Amino acid sequence: MDIRKAPDPHALARQAAEYIAERIAAVLSQREHCHLALAGGNTPRALYALLRGMDLSWSRLHFWFSDERCLPAGDAQRNDTMVKEVLLAGLPLPQAQLHSITAELGPEAAAQQYTKELSHIERLDIVLLGLGEDGHTASLFPDNSALAMQNRAVPVHHAPKPPAQRVSLSLNCIREADERVVIAAGKEKREALARILAGEEVPAAMIGEAVWFVDEAAIAGLCGEAPTQCQQIRA
Ligand code: 6PG
Repeated sequence: MDIRKAPDPHALARQAAEYIAERIAAVLSQREHCHLALAGGNTPRALYALLRGMDLSWSRLHFWFSDERCLPAGDAQRNDTMVKEVLLAGLPLPQAQLHSITAELGPEAAAQQYTKELSHIERLDIVLLGLGEDGHTASLFPDNSALAMQNRAVPVHHAPKPPAQRVSLSLNCIREADERVVIAAGKEKREALARILAGEEVPAAMIGEAVWFVDEAAIAGLCGEAPTQCQQIRA
């Protein structure tokens, strides 16, 4: 774990936005397009608003989703609705560069469709993920059958965080990506981070190497329990 600590959620959003912009530029220095999978939830909103104001090579960016909630298209609680409102607002991004999950079709049909769409790329370049209080990431929840599924996109049932039906990138798809970036802010995430630092195999600990952007509240006092890990914390 490469853990980068920020004093507060705003600094975290800024640090993570700058890092992602750097990584996008690095990918585009090697390849025509950069395929970036976006995290859902609330934590990335501030980061997306900052990215929106940056001079990115938008015409060469493809946006995918790390997961989606099986709700009607356009529903305010969908992750793609948030992304369209915060990251892509007012951007003339061609439809072909925004790869929404058709979660309105239900978990199985949407996961199958997304797996087919993902088969058109070699792999994702950057996968952005959040962290749930129970150690979930994307829509991969502890002890959920989706964790063992192999396709690039998998159907999720019985998610403890509503809605219960979702679609998620699989562990395979997340691991095969070139890079993973995890963001976690607030004291609510501290217990999950403590379990991960203690070596517990929660889903967020199973994604492979990643750069973790955390704020002080999320990591507070954990260094004592895992000094080796904390050596990697860079303010
Ligand atoms: C979702 C998310 C989920 C999220 C975490 C953290 O659709 O709910 O993709 O994995 O990233 O639950 O959520 P917050 O950022 O809102 O704390």
